[in-house]
Amino acid sequence: MMAKIVIIIPTYNERENIEKMIEVLEEQIFPQIKNHKMEILIVDDNSPDGTAEVVREKMKRYSGIELSLGEKKGLGAAYKRGMRYAMEKMKADAVVEFDADFQHDPAYIIDLVKKFDEGYDHVIGSRFAKGGSIPSNWSLYRKFLTKYGGLFSRTVLFFPNINRVRDVSTGLKLTRVKGVLEKINFERVGDGFFYKTQILYQLVNLGVKITEIPIRFKIREKGESKISSQEVLRTFLGVIELRLTDPKMLRFIKFGIVGFVGYLVNASTLFLFANILHFAEWLSWALSTELAIISNFTWNNIWTFKEVEIRGFKNIIKKFFQFNGTSIGALLIQTTAGTLGVKILGPSFRQILLPFIIIFLVIPYNYTMYNVFIWKTWKIPFLSKK
Ligand code: GDD
Ligand code: MN
Repeated sequence: MMAKIVIIIPTYNERENIEKMIEVLEEQIFPQIKNHKMEILIVDDNSPDGTAEVVREKMKRYSGIELSLGEKKGLGAAYKRGMRYAMEKMKADAVVEFDADFQHDPAYIIDLVKKFDEGYDHVIGSRFAKGGSIPSNWSLYRKFLTKYGGLFSRTVLFFPNINRVRDVSTGLKLTRVKGVLEKINFERVGDGFFYKTQILYQLVNLGVKITEIPIRFKIREKGESKISSQEVLRTFLGVIELRLTDPKMLRFIKFGIVGFVGYLVNASTLFLFANILHFAEWLSWALSTELAIISNFTWNNIWTFKEVEIRGFKNIIKKFFQFNGTSIGALLIQTTAGTLGVKILGPSFRQILLPFIIIFLVIPYNYTMYNVFIWKTWKIPFLSKK
């Protein structure tokens, strides 16, 4: 199918570069992409060097070039404006993020489009995929920042799957509009350089088809870089915030807090039953565990899973029994491990054993059961078919 692909080029004082870039795209690159309609959108922030005038000259010669002028607020602001313009006014089917300064070889656009044709939603021009590179004469500082800053971002955002995306800060990528870019919440995308990580994180969470193609990032020949290293450093706090405010992470944190309260209930009643009332070992573990289960069910229902809260007396009773059903697993795990542990290590280890059993056995088990069977927030294909 013939698609309209808009190359979005943000510019700030790129007079010299943009003139040549438009020519190269129109004369050498677009003629090689015959199955799509290729257009250009220049997003200029009223560059004092008169970049816009040069663009207007080119618009007289070539069709399919548009210019969006605005206030300078940063690279993210420029791209947000450009992406909206490309979607709404130009009716783009895909957009390409591209620099004016020839640090990206324009021929890579052909590679991006090929992957789009193969059905990918988001194609990343990656400096860290096999065959890609960063300029060898970059300063050690910049090399370090790009590589290890990137590793830090990937770890915080995608752990344990840190190789899901290898280049999180590249400036070259293609994004499909339908079902992909149109679904991005631009209110959660900032005005600065960090915009790209915020969009990428949303795309990964949307579960779109992502791939990387290797690119060799060149040095800038004309003009100068506009992105300050201060802005790049801001990324460090940004990724942590991004991950912590993710709804999925918030839910897990709440689950953790509820679990900790459950632990306190469990530990104090275990002490009461075993040390003060001298119940049998197994009975002390079983009773205190059941009390923790009741606490967990209540708090998780009204807080952790409040978006899908179970309501109504009948429903709550039904679910509470089901919850106890899945908790029998936890009860068995905990009672067996606790009783065995005390047998092996002695009663003085009773309170030390409990947190270990909870963290390594009970938490993973419970979180899975809650999300799959109780509040059903994880859809497991073969289970939800029924
Ligand atoms: N409209 C607008 N407004 N354009 C801007 C702004 C802005 O505030 N800041 C930068 N640009 C334009 C530049 O004119 C250029 O066309 C493009 O965005 C890239 O800016 P550079 O100043 O050349 O950035 P860089 O080379 O330091 O960074 C590039 O590589 C990074 C990876 O190392 C960019 O591609 C980054 O996006 C990328 O992360
Ligand atoms: Mn550049």
